[in-house]
Amino acid sequence: MFSKIIATGSYLPSNILTNQDLEKKVDTTDEWIRSRTGIERRSIADPQQTTSDLGYEAAKKAIDRSGIDKHEIDLIIVGTCTPDVPTPNVGAIIQEKIGLKDFPAFSIEAACSGFVYAMNLANKFILSGDSKCALVIGAETLSRITDWEDRNTCVLFADGAGAAILKPSEDPGIIYSKLGANGAYSDLLYVPYGTSKRPLKEQRNDNFLQMKGNEVFKVAVKTLESIAKDSLKEVNMTSEDIDWFIPHQANIRIIQAVSKRLNIPEKKVIISLTDHGNTSAASIPLALDQSIREGKIKTGDTVLLQSFGAGFTWGTVIIKI
Ligand code: COA
Repeated sequence: MFSKIIATGSYLPSNILTNQDLEKKVDTTDEWIRSRTGIERRSIADPQQTTSDLGYEAAKKAIDRSGIDKHEIDLIIVGTCTPDVPTPNVGAIIQEKIGLKDFPAFSIEAACSGFVYAMNLANKFILSGDSKCALVIGAETLSRITDWEDRNTCVLFADGAGAAILKPSEDPGIIYSKLGANGAYSDLLYVPYGTSKRPLKEQRNDNFLQMKGNEVFKVAVKTLESIAKDSLKEVNMTSEDIDWFIPHQANIRIIQAVSKRLNIPEKKVIISLTDHGNTSAASIPLALDQSIREGKIKTGDTVLLQSFGAGFTWGTVIIKI
C-alpha cells in the first residue's frame, strides 16, 4: 500500500512585487537580486488576506481537480510558520472554510520544511489506515514577518500556497520519506519573539525574520547534498532514476550547487523561485503544481522533493506521480 497524490492546487496573491519595485524601497538593484538569488518577482498578499485564505484557495483548486466529494477528506495538515493567529490552528480554520468538520485538522511549524513534514505525516496516517483521503497544504504570508527596510531579507521572501490530496493506492506513490532537524543552528534563521518569548502586548515593530544568509547558504548546500545521497541509497536508486528534482526554492545558486553535486542535469530541476521568491512551506507544493500544470511532470514520473529551513529542519520525499 502507498499514499498517492491524486490532485494538486496552488494559489498566488495577485499583487506582484518586482525587483524594480524593490529598488524603490531599499538600496538594491534588479541585477544584484537576479544574479545572487535568481528571483525576479514575487506575490504579496493583500492586507486583509491571511495564510488560511491562501491555503483555502489552493485546497479548493486541488479538490476541484481531484473529482472527489470534499466530504471524503478525513485529515488536513498544514505546514506554515506564519499562522493567522496562535490558536486556533490554520488546519482547523481551513477545515471550517471548506465546510468540513469532525476529523483531525492541524498545522505544523517546521519553517520551509513544513510541506515535506506534512506529507511525511499524512503518509503515516494513510499507511496506518487512519486516513483514506488527506489534504496536505503548505501556506505562508512571509511578507508579515519580513522587514521591508532590510535589503538582506526583503528581496527573498514572499507569499503563496500549494496543496495536494493524498489517497491510499496499490500503485507506488510515496516510495520514501525522511525528516531531520538540528536545533543547534537556530540562531542562523529566526524570528526573535513569539507568544511565549515576549508577551504579545509588549511586541514592538522589531519582530522580523533575522538571517545570517552566508552561513545558511553553506549549511543548506551541504545538508541537501548529503540527505539526497542517503535517501537515494536507501531506496537503491541513483540520480538517473529521478525524472524531476523539486528542491526548496530559496536561492538559485543553492539549487545549482546541490544539483551539480548530485549529478542531476539542469533540465530535470524545477525552478519556480524566479516568479515566486522564497515562499517557505508553500514553495515545494507551488513548484509541484506549476510543473504539473505546465505538463512537465506527468503520471508515472519519479520526483524527488527536498526541503531545508529554519531550525534547521530538512526532509526528503521520493514520490511516483
Ligand atoms: N542588494 C544589494 N546588495 C546587497 C543586498 C541586496 N539586496 N543584500 C546584501 N547585499 C550586500 C551585502 O551587504 C554585502 O555587501 P558588502 O560586501 O559590502 O558587505 C554583499 O551584498 C554580499 O553579501 P553576502 O551576504 O555575502 O551575499 P551572498 O552572495 O551570500 O547573497 C543571500 C546573500 C542572502 C542572497 C545568500 O546568502 C542566500 O541566499 N543565503 C541563503 C538564504 C536562504 O536560503 N534562506 C532561507 C533558507 S530556507
